[in-house]
Amino acid sequence: MGTCNCKTPWDELNEVIEAHRGQESALIEVLHKAQEIMGYLPRDVQEAIAEGLRVPLNKVYGVVSFYHHFSVEPKGKYQIAVCNGTACYVKGAPAVISSLEEELGIRAGETTQDGKFSLAAVRCLGACSLAPVMTINQKAYGLVDADKAKEIIKQYE
Ligand code: FES
Repeated sequence: MGTCNCKTPWDELNEVIEAHRGQESALIEVLHKAQEIMGYLPRDVQEAIAEGLRVPLNKVYGVVSFYHHFSVEPKGKYQIAVCNGTACYVKGAPAVISSLEEELGIRAGETTQDGKFSLAAVRCLGACSLAPVMTINQKAYGLVDADKAKEIIKQYE
């Protein structure tokens, strides 16, 4: 990974929570931002938000399950995250995302029917010098483009 001043997703999430500490009325806004940052809303993220905003956890679960927009799915066996942060965006992340959407037959935010792949467009992954960056589970790939991204996921098929 190259060095950059990017924050980790959890740093960013904590900042959002901090900015709305104790503000129950900001719940939906914070959930939206959290999903943008993390790609989806796993349990630990919902817990952090409940605690920070001083909202009962059940209420957070309720809101998240009510709106289809929110995803709590643990995602596919292989979780593909394409960074759509500024550096990656400028260097072609949207083309990488479209190419993977086409290859997998799903949209960003969805999981393939067989549960094998999920695709998410996420915020800065902290490796801007390697933009565009994508990760599959814990493994990071830098300097990807539309074709290279397709080649990479073929290794997992
Ligand atoms: S914008 Fe920083 S890794 Fe993509």
